[in-house]
Amino acid sequence: HLHRNYNCRNFFMKLSCTKMEDCLIEDQTTFYSKAEHYWKEVPPTVDGMLGGYGSISSIDINGSKKFLQKFLGEGQGKTGTGCALDCGAGIGRITKRLLLPLFRTVDLVDVTQEFLDKARSYLGEEVKQVENYFCCGLQDFQPQPERYDVIWIQWVIGHLTDDHLVEFLRRCRSGLRPDGLIVVKDNVAFEGVIPDDVDSSVCRDLNLLHRLVARAGLNIICEEQQQNFPEEIYQVHTLALR
Ligand SMILES: C[S@@+](CC[C@H](N)C(=O)[O-])C[C@H]1O[C@@H](n2cnc3c(N)ncnc32)[C@H](O)[C@@H]1O
Repeated sequence: HLHRNYNCRNFFMKLSCTKMEDCLIEDQTTFYSKAEHYWKEVPPTVDGMLGGYGSISSIDINGSKKFLQKFLGEGQGKTGTGCALDCGAGIGRITKRLLLPLFRTVDLVDVTQEFLDKARSYLGEEVKQVENYFCCGLQDFQPQPERYDVIWIQWVIGHLTDDHLVEFLRRCRSGLRPDGLIVVKDNVAFEGVIPDDVDSSVCRDLNLLHRLVARAGLNIICEEQQQNFPEEIYQVHTLALR
């Protein structure tokens, strides 16, 4: 969708934007409302969640499981398995295969009510472990203080402005139990900020993501690149933060 981004001239000059606000095509309100409208039209399926790449879901989940399991368990500094929060959860693709098998209870938050409605049937038998479905934009969401062992944030940070992402990560930090962990798993750009005018999101480079994480007062405990994804898509990185 790069050809649509007339306002992000820096990108084409290979200087690239260093803040996502430089790349915003319209104002902030439009940035959010366009995304909401986009997702309302997307079918509530795994393929819909992954923009037609439903086939990579298993590779993604298996990579996440391996990553997360390093931190869970008993003993000094280990993250508990009581309650997890799935942010930008959609129909609960990650909740179903990653979080419900590992945590006693799970909460979901997403801006699209239709996806949360679908989750109730999609999640199957284990749906009874879900305590809350919050229909809310992450820019407005306040996690309950000290409730979560793990806060999982995947393929959604591009829908938040830099400032909103920093503030959201700060609130997530307060939402963690002792030894809790925030995991961000998302696309990273090779350089700069690449806007997507179709779903109204941006893709940031790793350098910018690191700076935003630091601004939120979080440390990177571990970082990995997801392997075995198709060549043509963005690199995907997983960051464990606390
Ligand atoms: C690419 S899908 C990813 C869904 C899920 N994380 C997964 O990996 O299967 C993006 C999701 O983010 C949600 N979303 C978009 N903007 C949001 C916002 N500002 N706050 C919360 N959720 C948002 C959409 O409704 C959609 O469910």
